[in-house]
Amino acid sequence: MAGVIRDLTDAEARRALVCKWGEVPDDVLPAWVAEMDYAVAEPVVAAVQDAVAAGMLGYPRVGAGGPLGEAYAGFARRQFGHDVDPERVVPTVDVTAGVRLALDALVPPGPLVFPVPGYAPQLAMAEVTGRERLDLVVDPDAERAELDLDLLDHHLARGARALLLTQPHNPWGRAFTRAELEGVRDVVLRHGALVVSDEIHAPLVLEGAEHVPYLAVEGTADHAVAVVAASKAFNIAGLKCAQLVTTSPALHERLVSVPLARNESWSVLGVAASEAAYVHGDAWLAALRVRLAEQRTLLGSLLAEHLPEARTRPLEATYLAWLDLRAYGHDDPAAVALERSRVQVAAGHDYQPGLTGHVRLNIATSPDRLTEIVRRLASALT
Ligand SMILES: Cc1ncc(COP(=O)(O)O)c(C=O)c1O
Repeated sequence: MAGVIRDLTDAEARRALVCKWGEVPDDVLPAWVAEMDYAVAEPVVAAVQDAVAAGMLGYPRVGAGGPLGEAYAGFARRQFGHDVDPERVVPTVDVTAGVRLALDALVPPGPLVFPVPGYAPQLAMAEVTGRERLDLVVDPDAERAELDLDLLDHHLARGARALLLTQPHNPWGRAFTRAELEGVRDVVLRHGALVVSDEIHAPLVLEGAEHVPYLAVEGTADHAVAVVAASKAFNIAGLKCAQLVTTSPALHERLVSVPLARNESWSVLGVAASEAAYVHGDAWLAALRVRLAEQRTLLGSLLAEHLPEARTRPLEATYLAWLDLRAYGHDDPAAVALERSRVQVAAGHDYQPGLTGHVRLNIATSPDRLTEIVRRLASALT
């Protein structure tokens, strides 16, 4: 049924989510990696089943645009009010690869600015693209997680050539406002730098917030590329298909003229699933956002009851809550929770090396499981 979020049973989740559930022992409740304990949307399942039945298991279409470009452009228009030229939608294997490709193909040698805490695998993105990483660190005591524009200015003045933005941000849970993004634009323009905007979480903006694509901000066309995907919102990361979006003809040209050896291997099934998600997924996505907003509310009351000393900032987007548990006195609360209570959350120091007392908690599960997760966390930490 369209628009219905079906919780997977434990047995189904263990079978379906071989990373989130399969990498932990059977008695451990997993709330770590960014996958959701929900059945995949029916239009997406149907598209993949049809493709498999038809033997569509060869190479994908090569090149920009096409039905995938049209599908994403329609989705961006309906979901974000953002006009994208379908011909400027370039497939790539996944968001990680897309970010790497954008950096390699578009950004001259020089340091990379990265907001921290940041998506753990991207902490290494500077190094693997041959750059120094210059961090924009959020003070754990800050009321609100914000991009430090003065520090961005300083890093760019020191020679950094690009900002790897995550919009909305994992693990800050922020959806940056247009005014904030205009601030970024002004600083970046002053230094002639580029922005690679990882927008994988864009469809996961929750009630009360709005996703503003960086490329929808006036004056960003010539210095930015967005990396987008249906994978996170539709729980299909294993199908391997993301997209690079540009507005500038020059940047687009450079992306599509990279040798195939630099950008190949997205999957034909990933394309089929992404097209289905973008074209037929709105009702399911709307229901998902309602569910996640309910889970957010539930988390608030569970924390108030069981972990009243936990500090959180409002979760505006994503299903990944960032918890400051320093008050409970454990340097590595994730390890303590795993050992004492058999619940797996992600350790804060994975997102910011050296940070103590923080965890990232995945709320995309059933209300019962979330209740049990927080109960176990509390019994381990208090
Ligand atoms: C901000 C961010 N970027 C990229 C990824 C990974 O995307 P992919 O699996 O398409 O490489 C994630 C996964 O959670 C993420 O949170």
